[in-house]
Amino acid sequence: ETANIAAGEAGRNPHQRWAQFAPYAEYYEISATERTDWVYSPSYPPQRIWGYQANIPDMTMPSATFHGHYGRPILCRIYNKLPQNHVGFGTPEISTHLHNLHTGSESDGFPGDYYSPNKAGPTLTAKGKFKDHLYSNVCAGFEARQDLKGDYREALGTLFYHDHTLDFTAPNLYLGLAGFYLLFDDLDSGNEADPSPTALRLPSHPYDYPLNFNDRRFDASGKLYYDQVNPEGVLGDKVLVNGRIEPVLRVAARRYRFRLLNTGPSRFYELFLVSPNDVVQKFTHIGNDGNLFSAPLLNQTSIRLGVAERADIVVDFSRYLIGTQLYLVNRLRQEETRGPKDVKEPGVRVLKIIVDRYPPSQDLSRVPSVLRPYPPITQAEIDSAPVRRWIFERSNGMWAINGKFVDVTNPRAQIPKGASEIWELVNPEDGWSHPIHIHFEEGRILSKTINGVNVPLTPHDQGRKDVYVLEPFATLRVFLRFRDYKGKYVMHCHNLIHEDHAMMLRWDIV
Ligand code: C2O
Ligand code: CU
Repeated sequence: ETANIAAGEAGRNPHQRWAQFAPYAEYYEISATERTDWVYSPSYPPQRIWGYQANIPDMTMPSATFHGHYGRPILCRIYNKLPQNHVGFGTPEISTHLHNLHTGSESDGFPGDYYSPNKAGPTLTAKGKFKDHLYSNVCAGFEARQDLKGDYREALGTLFYHDHTLDFTAPNLYLGLAGFYLLFDDLDSGNEADPSPTALRLPSHPYDYPLNFNDRRFDASGKLYYDQVNPEGVLGDKVLVNGRIEPVLRVAARRYRFRLLNTGPSRFYELFLVSPNDVVQKFTHIGNDGNLFSAPLLNQTSIRLGVAERADIVVDFSRYLIGTQLYLVNRLRQEETRGPKDVKEPGVRVLKIIVDRYPPSQDLSRVPSVLRPYPPITQAEIDSAPVRRWIFERSNGMWAINGKFVDVTNPRAQIPKGASEIWELVNPEDGWSHPIHIHFEEGRILSKTINGVNVPLTPHDQGRKDVYVLEPFATLRVFLRFRDYKGKYVMHCHNLIHEDHAMMLRWDIV
């Protein structure tokens, strides 16, 4: 159980607060910092960007990428070194959320837990330069069940961390405060040459490659521009991939695993891999959000991503001649923040891929026909689960859940630790699609209706999810188990503008 703590408090002696983990924990320090030399595109001037810099290599987008391993805790001290006298959009406080790790609430990056040397959020007891976060990388709720042990671990795969400061998440992410956190275990071990017979041997680093998509607007001088006024959403006219406009990725003629992530603020994507004359190429879809599917989906042609959704795909470039050029293209039309609309060819090229070499050594990776089984949910569990109904709609130019705006000091639901519940997410309005995120626990969509009519779930809707795209007139029934920790968490729309305009609620495990 975790109480409110002060920024910097745990940090006076991190190994004391989490003494039981100290012998096992890897310790990292990362710092939210400003740099002024970021080049979005060679035709734009170098400019200011915010990112999480780290004592780990491999800087993308421009924040560091973590590689974690299940059962090995990471203790992470997160410094706020943003310029405190800063002018313009964005606020120099941070609260860093690791989306969607199974994390104690004081390490979750709760929106009210923001801090700087000058300021503390309403749910922290004191300001400070840094705060320590324990990522235990373990899910005790399943480890305790010997019958399930190993096979049914959750939140294992493509996670990401980002600023979550109350009311300012959109501008702070717009400046760059988001990075990847990839979590492996013995099955998905991150080693394609793993000799263990049970290891999946998916393509591994450096052939396991994160791709972060977000859209931005620039003014006539090529400087980043942010519309602070519009509460409906913000759409850019340029798509960045890992912080650059239409970058080029040079690949070897072999299998690659790509971790696709949409960090918003508001746009949805439908990504296709095409040849220069727009012939659609096939790939294998192996996972959604934070985890793998039970089996790979072969011969896929596109991936749709709402804000904060992730997709794990494997592309086999050994099928192409050296010199082949391919493009990742977004064909989803979205001209206003309502939407998205339909899929239209040819779409917008966002990433150029050139197959420019043979692999330096034999490609030992594979995509086995069985990945990670889904945790079983019994009919009895479903029948006995209490149901909560949450309605997401507009209210007075802001965004409400069950008619109320965010209040991080007041829990709207108190859930007994260990309970299973069904949450009904309801969108009664036309026009808007809300990517709803529930912190802490992955869930499973039991059913979906549009206008009261049952809609079959696609195979990838049946995987483990932590973001639930709520289309116009849709109702989703989501099954959740609340395990291991007590404390405060949130649910919110992950359209960053809606989230900053109050479409969020606090819920507690008690
Ligand atoms: Cu990715 Cu509450 O956030
Ligand atoms: Cu929304």
